[in-house]
Amino acid sequence: MSANKDIDALLLQIQTSKKYQELNLPEETLRNLLEQELARHKKPVEALKSTRAKLHNIMAPYLGDLDYSQAGQELQNAFAQGDAAVKETCQSFLRQHDSTRERLTYLDDFYAGIRSVCGQPQSVLDLACGLNPFALPWMGLAPDCQFHAYDIHPARVALINEFLHLSGHEPLAEVRDILVRPPEVAADAAFLFKEAHRMEKRQKGCNRGLWAALKVHFLFVSLPKRSLDGRRDLRERMRGLVDSSIDPRDWAEQGELDFPGETVYWMRKDG
Ligand SMILES: C[S@@+](CC[C@H](N)C(=O)[O-])C[C@H]1O[C@@H](n2cnc3c(N)ncnc32)[C@H](O)[C@@H]1O
Repeated sequence: MSANKDIDALLLQIQTSKKYQELNLPEETLRNLLEQELARHKKPVEALKSTRAKLHNIMAPYLGDLDYSQAGQELQNAFAQGDAAVKETCQSFLRQHDSTRERLTYLDDFYAGIRSVCGQPQSVLDLACGLNPFALPWMGLAPDCQFHAYDIHPARVALINEFLHLSGHEPLAEVRDILVRPPEVAADAAFLFKEAHRMEKRQKGCNRGLWAALKVHFLFVSLPKRSLDGRRDLRERMRGLVDSSIDPRDWAEQGELDFPGETVYWMRKDG
């Protein structure tokens, strides 16, 4: 069988599998993973197994998720009631994913810290956003700030667009694999929270290309201080990841913000 036929057949197997048929994952992600794994494994069946393992790590169902049709209804009800209900509903969404739940205890400080570095951004890219856009009520952004969010989970992106629309922002969330197609849009700031270390497992060294491609003045990359089970101190490893992903010719200034669950490494591009 030719390589293309291999990919098409394996792609269909994943798309129609019990685990992924409802999710409707972008084809660009599946093809990219299959191409990579077919180059590493002699047998297509091994490439498929390894693609599925990577996909499980990327989608990370063990980190938690929402019931999207129920969440849509909750959002509509909350906006009908007013700001306090909206904040409460957003908080209940943020609580349902490990990354955002942990951040809830220091959300105001987190975004005050970010604004202390970049000021008031007029445009933001939230890369591999997960449920983080539901933290908008705590971000302190201008009402006309262009908030672009990117994820490969279509139901998540649709709910985020509904939320942005109801909040009076343009619905600029997009289903996009940021490693296959880094956003071309220019922005004041980009957020890449709690995902860069996981993306390295998909493709070692991928952050360097992504960070260089971004047309942003400030990039904020947050990385965990401890392993998920809390046992291992990850700080040295994460610092190493940042150092190896930065091309000093691209980034004029760098710094760090320290929070209980994560460190935010920030960098500023010239021009
Ligand atoms: C661990 S969550 C991080 C969420 C968020 N950044 C935060 O810290 O609150 C990872 C999210 O990134 C998305 N994701 C993973 N790889 C991606 C990629 N290459 N392009 C776009 N989204 C991606 C997943 O679908 C998931 O929603």
